[in-house]
Amino acid sequence: MGQFVVAGGRRLAGTFVVSGSKNAALPILAATTLVAAPVTLTGVPLRLLDVRHMLAMLQELGVTVTMSGSDTVTVDARGPLSPDLPDVYTRTMRASVFLMGPILGRLGRVTVSRPGGCNIGPRPIDLHLKALAALSVRFMEGPGGHIVGEGRRLTGAVTYLDLPSVGATENVMMAAAAAEGDTVIENAAREPEVVDLAQFLNAMGGAVHGAGTDRIWIQGGHTLSGGAYELIPDRIEAGTVAVAAALTGGDVMLSHVVPEHLTPLWRKLSEMGAAVEVSGPTVRVSAAGTLRATSLRTGPHPGFPTDLQPLMLALMTQAQGCSTLVETVFENRLRHALELRRMGANVLTDGRMAVIYGPTPLEGAVVEATDLRAGAALMVAGLAAQGSTTVLGAEMVARGYQDWAERLSALGASVTLEP
Ligand code: UD1
Repeated sequence: MGQFVVAGGRRLAGTFVVSGSKNAALPILAATTLVAAPVTLTGVPLRLLDVRHMLAMLQELGVTVTMSGSDTVTVDARGPLSPDLPDVYTRTMRASVFLMGPILGRLGRVTVSRPGGCNIGPRPIDLHLKALAALSVRFMEGPGGHIVGEGRRLTGAVTYLDLPSVGATENVMMAAAAAEGDTVIENAAREPEVVDLAQFLNAMGGAVHGAGTDRIWIQGGHTLSGGAYELIPDRIEAGTVAVAAALTGGDVMLSHVVPEHLTPLWRKLSEMGAAVEVSGPTVRVSAAGTLRATSLRTGPHPGFPTDLQPLMLALMTQAQGCSTLVETVFENRLRHALELRRMGANVLTDGRMAVIYGPTPLEGAVVEATDLRAGAALMVAGLAAQGSTTVLGAEMVARGYQDWAERLSALGASVTLEP
């Protein structure tokens, strides 16, 4: 495994152009298998490991993939396609589960091994299976721990999600687009990436209504006919750099942002004493002087995004007073607190809650990226620390941040990726 080496005591300054959204790209790439015509996507973060794996998986299924430029890909899923999702990717990438809905919609059958992904709790797929079953899919245990889904004629239905799961909402939306009749998803996730998938399906000729609310209505059976679509910017990448700017007492102009996607972050940064100036698709984040402690609770959109929680925990170590943080979305997503303690942070955790006393000087250390966003948080903490920080598990970070060392270095950081 590679490692990032981060020199401490750096202040980030300059302009950062945000990439297209990973979490929009993955389901939308999966959704292209519903379209028996070429689709050209722009704003695709092509150098991310997760995106590479999704593209490789599409190719193994029989899809033709042509990349051009830095962020454009043409996907041609005219077929014939295979219903067997390749194990080598499904075991490591949770987003492979996104292919279940569209492959079922297209072929009436899918075989998948239980998916892997980030190490942030059990992350079951029961809601995906239950909601797809409502659309007349029958699931069976196949050999070797595989799940086999069959549904020759998917039929629309009303399905209620016990939790507003992003992935389950997206999966059902894709299957429903190919089903006969109408589907209603109740208690649907409202994340911007869900809205982007709906807009993609509609741009291809689908009929999805209400995305962005907790009730999504999909009229099935419309022929999806291909075309071009541009993805939304990555709100988590933008948020990561915004926190890094605040943590280092820096001044960064983020460009290619949809500011409304990150309202809770702008509010929290302001509460803590950072300056946030929004102007069209740009946001300037700067901080001078000591930050103030705050309390934070993650939640499904429009709540505070769980993916930025590790970054906020790092920031809280540098705020004056006692901060509290509650993680409500995932069960086991505070392991970075232990790694931050190695760097001198004063953090106590109990279950899903953390209490952080600050500010404490951070010192460079050897720490481990326990998951993708935890890795980013440790790197950002390393920028503000004294001395050098080595973040083990660089591959984990490369799943979600492309050209990370180069792009942080362009803002004044000194970050190197070592094999
Ligand atoms: C997506 C994002 C991830 C983000 C998360 C929450 C992608 C590729 N990933 O993940 O970055 O952190 O949304 O915003 O878009 N759950 C179940 N059963 C299920 C499905 C989920 O119990 O069948 C639980 C999960 O364990 C978790 C909660 O629901 O506790 C939310 O998970 P979910 O919204 O599904 O997250 P993902 O779609 O996996």
